[in-house]
Amino acid sequence: MSCKNIIIQAGLADCPRKSRWPARLDLLQSSTGLILGLFMWGHMFFVASILFGKDAMWTITKLFEGFFFFGKSHPGLVSCVVGFVVVVFVLHALMAVRKFPINYRQWRTVRAHAKAMKHEDSTLWVWQVYTGFLLFFFASAHLYQMFVWPQNIGPYASADRVWSDSLWPFYLVMLLAVELHGGIGLYRLAVKWGWPNASRQKLKKVKWALTGFFLILGLATLAAYMKIGYEHRASVGERFTPDWVLEKDLSAGHHGDSL
Ligand code: HEM
Repeated sequence: MSCKNIIIQAGLADCPRKSRWPARLDLLQSSTGLILGLFMWGHMFFVASILFGKDAMWTITKLFEGFFFFGKSHPGLVSCVVGFVVVVFVLHALMAVRKFPINYRQWRTVRAHAKAMKHEDSTLWVWQVYTGFLLFFFASAHLYQMFVWPQNIGPYASADRVWSDSLWPFYLVMLLAVELHGGIGLYRLAVKWGWPNASRQKLKKVKWALTGFFLILGLATLAAYMKIGYEHRASVGERFTPDWVLEKDLSAGHHGDSL
């Protein structure tokens, strides 16, 4: 068939074309992945503030709610940040499904190749597909909660969710999935775009060191929320306010209504 005489696009798919779109979509996938990866590093540190005590986590929460700028909490600001993350997450997932094996036969071929060649980078890619698939469900549920109920974030509110609402197994699975997925993703970005310019061996070492660090940090954080939640199980629903804030608030005659 001649590609010069195409009528109403019939047969167009079989003709060689110079389209920039696959490259553009690849760039979108990489940039959204980078934003999510960097966001996750920040997120893990903010959530880990609980390791420094309830006052520290309360302060971080209130910082995001604008309390120290406006003198009043606005949890809606957190929803705005979540909304942005949702858009980036959806774009990233949309770009990723282009690469998913679309039937069992394709899936079997990829796995067989990775196994037969003992090619570590292909095996890592297979793991990225598994964990990415899990995150479709886990991250969506988590982001929904954070978007709709941003006021339920805090030392007691978060710990109650983790322990009394029994969400700790959910967080445990999501933590493993997101750390593996993010670590492999950032490594693949570095290999693909050549920055930082180091050998794969070196990049892989850094990748595993970062994954190990964030996994240990995440597990310690989760254990801290579980412990606080367990100790607080008889008072679910009560919110934490540092003593120094209560004293300041009472002396100003606010009785906690600005929190
Ligand atoms: C702006 C959006 C987000 C906000 C405000 C947020 C907030 C939080 C908060 C407050 C916690 C502590 C537990 C709780 O309160 O339920 C938490 C835990 C967690 N979040 Fe997020 N999150 C966001 C996005 C994400 C995304 C996109 C992921 C990746 C899939 C994620 C993965 C996790 C994990 C794995 C934990 C458990 C951490 C640990 O156990 O150390 N979060 N998040």
